[in-house]
Formats: sequence, C-alpha cells, structure tokens
Amino acid sequence: MNQQSYPEQPPSHRPQRPGGDEPICNHSTNPTFATILNSRLQRRQVMRGGVAAAMAVLFSRSNVGNFFSEPAQAAGHGSLLGFKAVPVNSTDSIVVPEGYTARVILPYGEPIAGNYPAYSLENTGADQGMQMGSHHDGMHFFPIEGNDPYQGSSTEGLLVLNHEYVEPRYMHKSAIGQPLDSEGVPLKADGKRSADEVLKELNGHGVSIVHVRKQRNGSWEVVRDRLNRRITGLTPMDITGPVRGSDHVKTKYSPDGTKTRGTLNNCAHGVTPWNTYMAAEENWAGYFRNGKQVDQKPDLPREQARYGVVTGVSRYGWELADSGADEYLRFDATPKAARPTQDYRNEPNAFGWMVEIDPFDPTSTPKKRTALGRFAHEGVVFQAPIEGQPVVCYSGDDARFEYIYKFVSAQPYRKATANGDLLDRGTLYVAKFHADGKGEWVALVFGQNGLTAANGFKDQADVLVNTRLAADTVGATKMDRPEWGAIDPATKAVYFTLTNNSSRTGEQVDEANPRSANDWGHIIRWNEAGNNPTATRFEWDIFVLAGTEEDSQKLSGNALDTDSLFCCPDGLWFDASSRLWIQTDISESVMNTGKYAQFGNNQMLAADPKTGEIRRFFTGPIGQEITGVVTTPDQRTMFINVQHPGATTTKEDFAAGKNVSRWPDQKATDYPRSATVVITKDDGGIIGT
Ligand code: FEO
Ligand code: CA
Ligand code: CA
Ligand code: CA
Repeated sequence: MNQQSYPEQPPSHRPQRPGGDEPICNHSTNPTFATILNSRLQRRQVMRGGVAAAMAVLFSRSNVGNFFSEPAQAAGHGSLLGFKAVPVNSTDSIVVPEGYTARVILPYGEPIAGNYPAYSLENTGADQGMQMGSHHDGMHFFPIEGNDPYQGSSTEGLLVLNHEYVEPRYMHKSAIGQPLDSEGVPLKADGKRSADEVLKELNGHGVSIVHVRKQRNGSWEVVRDRLNRRITGLTPMDITGPVRGSDHVKTKYSPDGTKTRGTLNNCAHGVTPWNTYMAAEENWAGYFRNGKQVDQKPDLPREQARYGVVTGVSRYGWELADSGADEYLRFDATPKAARPTQDYRNEPNAFGWMVEIDPFDPTSTPKKRTALGRFAHEGVVFQAPIEGQPVVCYSGDDARFEYIYKFVSAQPYRKATANGDLLDRGTLYVAKFHADGKGEWVALVFGQNGLTAANGFKDQADVLVNTRLAADTVGATKMDRPEWGAIDPATKAVYFTLTNNSSRTGEQVDEANPRSANDWGHIIRWNEAGNNPTATRFEWDIFVLAGTEEDSQKLSGNALDTDSLFCCPDGLWFDASSRLWIQTDISESVMNTGKYAQFGNNQMLAADPKTGEIRRFFTGPIGQEITGVVTTPDQRTMFINVQHPGATTTKEDFAAGKNVSRWPDQKATDYPRSATVVITKDDGGIIGT
C-alpha cells in the first residue's frame, strides 16, 4: 500500500504474513524441549547423521502411532475407505473419485438475504451485506428438523460458514488498471480509501447463514428465508465472560466494555453441544494499526505487541476510509484522546476471541466468549457432551511457535436446560507435550502457575486478554502452527493438524515438533488420561508426518505414496463413521513451485484412524486451498469449501488481465470466486465408501 498517509512509517511495517499467516510474535524464551531432546539425542549419538537420522531413531522408538492405535490388520476392521484415489492435479478444475459428482453452490456474491442483489463487480458495500462473503472457510450443516446432528434432515438445513478474508482486487472495479499493493487494495489519488469499498470489504468478512434445500435433480438451492443472515465486520456483538466490563475493552463505542462491532478473519469454526455455531477470529491483529508509538514493537502495549498489531498501515487500510466514519476509524488504535473511552486504543482487545452465534435466531446478538482465551484462534472442537459433566473443547493458536489450548466449563452440561452461558465460566488450560509421550494441561488461572501480580498479571481478565503471555509464563510447548482439531467419535482421541513451521531450527526441535524447517507439517493426537475429557494429563503420539516420499511417515510406518502424498494439513474433521478428512493449505506463495510442485493444487484426503491408511479424495482448482467440510446427517451429501482460487495470480498478470484461475465460472471475463462444493456418490451411498 502507498505509505503517503503515514510518511513516518517505513513500508516494512505492513504486517508480514508469509502465506497469509501471522508474523512470529512469540519471542518468549520458554523451552521448546530442545534442551531435553538434544541431550537425549546426544547421549544416543544420533545427531551425527543429521536430522533425518535423529528422526529415524525417534520414530523407530515410539513416536508415530505408539499407544492407542490398533494394528493395521485389526480383526474385524474393514477399511473405512472404499473409493479409488484421485491423482494430484494442477489444472483449474475440481476432481472427485470415479462414481462421485461435485457441484458448485454459493459462490462469493451469491445473493442470500435482504433484496437478494445479483452478483456483479459493480455491487455496492450494502449489496455485499446481502450476499455471500468471500474466502469461505469453516462450515457446518444444521438440519432444519431436530437438533441432533445425526438425526435431523439430510435434505434441508442451515449451512453456516465463515468468510476468512477478502481479495480487494477481485471485488472492486476501481482495482482495474490501478497500481495495487500486496493486498490488492485500490487507493484513491489522495491516499484515502473509498468508504463504500471499505464497507464492501467489511461486509465480505464474517459469517453466512443460508437455508439450503436439496432438489429432485440432486442440486441444492437457496431458500429465501427469514433465517438467512449475514454477520459481518460491523455486526454488533456482546462481550461475555471474565473480560466483559473490564478496562481492556472500554472504547468510545462501548464505554462500559460490554459490546463491540464485528468479527474478522473467521477461519475454522466449532459446533457446541447445544447446536450453536462458533466462529474463530484468527489473523485479526494485522487489521489494526497503532501509529502513536515509536517504531519498535516492544513499545506497543503487550496486548498488541504479542499479537502482531502493526505500527504502519493496517492490512486493508480501512482506517483510511474517506467518509471518516467512526466504524472505520476504529481500526486505527492509536491513542488520540485523554481517556480510553474517548478513542479506539482498546479496539484490538475486542478481537482474538471465539464468537458464539445462534443460527436459528436471526435476531440474536453474537457473543464473544472471552473465557476461551484470546489468540489467533484457528477454530474450536468440542468433546461429545456427557450429562452432568463439564463441557470440554480445544482450540489451536495458528502462528509459528504458538500453543494448543483446552477449556473445561465450571458448570455441568444438562441436555434439558439452556446451556447458553456454559462457555463464560471455566478453566482455560494450555498444553505441555513431554518427550516421553505424556503431556499435561496447565491452568491459565490468575494466582496459579506463576500468573501473579509479581509476573505482571492483574486479574483473570488480564490473563485472558494476554493469553499468549500467560502461556509463555507457564512454559507451554511451542507448536508448528496448530490449525484444526477433530475428535474421533469412537475413541474421544483428539487430533490436531500442525501445518508447517519453516522457522523451527534444529536446536528447537522436540518430540512433538520433530522437524527443523518443518515444511510439510504433521498431525498429532492424544487421549486424555482415563479417557476422561476433563483430565489434566494425556498421552500423545504423531498420527502422520506429511511430506515427500523420502520424508513422510504414516501410522503403519510406511511413507506416503502416490495415492496419499500431501503436505501442509489444515482442515480436519471426523465424520460419524470415524473417517478422518484432511484438507491441505500449501501457501499460495509456494504452491505448484519448486519442491511443492509434486503436491499439485491443494487437496482433501480421507484417513482410517485405526489403520493409518490415507487416500486422496479431492483436488481443487489453481491457487486455492480446500477448507471446511461437513456432511448431512445421513453422510450422503458432503459440503466443502474452495477458498481463494486464483490467489497465485501475480500483480503483473492481474494488471494485464491474465488470471491463472477463472474457477468456477470459467468465463474469460469473470474473476475467480470462493465457493462451496456439494459432493454426492452417484449410487446414493455414504461419502468415502
Ligand atoms: Fe486460517 Fe490457520 O488457517
Ligand atoms: Ca485454516
Ligand atoms: Ca489460508
Ligand atoms: Ca492455513
């Protein structure tokens, strides 16, 4: 972006987000187990052969699939995977196995509410608020009949999905023929931004709630229903839980610290046991700037510095909107008045939360559940509820060297009662993965485990606003970018993708993150002690090390092969039959180039968690990632999302009118659009069989 509005700020202070991700903000010195591991490795004299030899020893010992998997030939266990693998693909199309059909629905701009304005590049910001947002991500199908996800309708429901971010160059006519920055933002001649374009981008974010119904011919249509709703970067929300009303969230908009506006960068999602939807706020920090401070991150307030708020121009420059309206100026968190309630210095503290939305009540106010902590939430995944027991959920913080968290509610779950505020009181824990395959959950509770006034914490609200610092303080294990979690309905085992971490050095490897320069990522899993979700101890192992044939390892001990080669796991979901669906997100900055070329376009695979068998099920078009997956209760219709097709189009090619992808419309004049894909089996069978 043109820097002329902030001449004192060097361009390097745009957020650095390689591959669309957060900058490294964890500068804490708590151990990565490097000390423990290195001493063990040196004793075993395995370092002489380098990392590969060290890994060979580690994994031959016990790390891959060591404690709760059954042998691949488990008696009576027929394979969960019945389809023929599809090959890697680098064309601008989607590919499903023989005997399956894929149809595109709900592309960016599809009208779903209000006046149902048809999609056009000329749509206004207000139009966008009645249409599908962009960059579809986490998603759930709520059957219209009944609230039991395994018993409701499989032909009619509310499809609820997140819109992670936007690409302004594909949204605005003004982007044509203009010099654009790395975010594709068109600036006006005076260095300001068009307020209507800013509105369009804010309305392109958030969540869509869409009533969908299956047609006789197998396709799905939008039902024009009062339940259809857009939640955006502007929707009023309540702040609930321990941070509500604290000084941290008092702003000009909400002097009593109980409200905020909008949710942003909603990546993955979660579904509560009481059938509400949770949207995660992931890479929100770069949407804000704080320019008052001098040009050194340590001088920003810690609740901004530890998360990556920038001192230059924000990601999309919304604070530059030419209307000067308050809802846009708030993205400049620079202190400007005498008191915090007269400006927006605290605005970033209202982001980084999990947001609960009741999709069945279009008048409900979304709630930011602060007890679940503040970080770059990828998503949240809940253990199946047990009557009379606390509710338990897990959430990863997707940035390099960040952590995995667990929340245990204070009050028990009761199916017959409204459980609405269970997520407002409870204990947030962070994971420590020990080198011996055991692990522990450490409580992030003010007054415990060093989270005291002596260490700079004031109270529980302060611990939660500064969740990352609290986790640093208790010595949590720094992970290789925790993305989605998924829970095997048969075993309660929790699986998490660790997408990659090219910054981890040989000195920083530990048994849970065993690769230096982890380009390929892996999937870790654990079982809670006694199979009790509330336990504070667990046992873990690595389900799969993704990557090349030379560098990967499956549960079986074998490498990935032609049918299963993948890297950079991100989306993860168990269907009701315990089939594990794995989605990949190779960064657009490296996709289809160099050593990544062998993986082709991003893809989705299915795995059998008992045998460790993995098979490629779906490949997407050029430039995108696959994310979001759910089936109807009968498992005969699957919905997935294709996000950011065409993101690999260079600035130069865009300026020349050449886009590498025209998916899904495939017209020479159309921009690529994120969309949902409906997958069915031609014989009407269960997806994956
Ligand atoms: Fe938005 Fe971590 O993927
Ligand atoms: Ca993701
Ligand atoms: Ca991504
Ligand atoms: Ca990702």
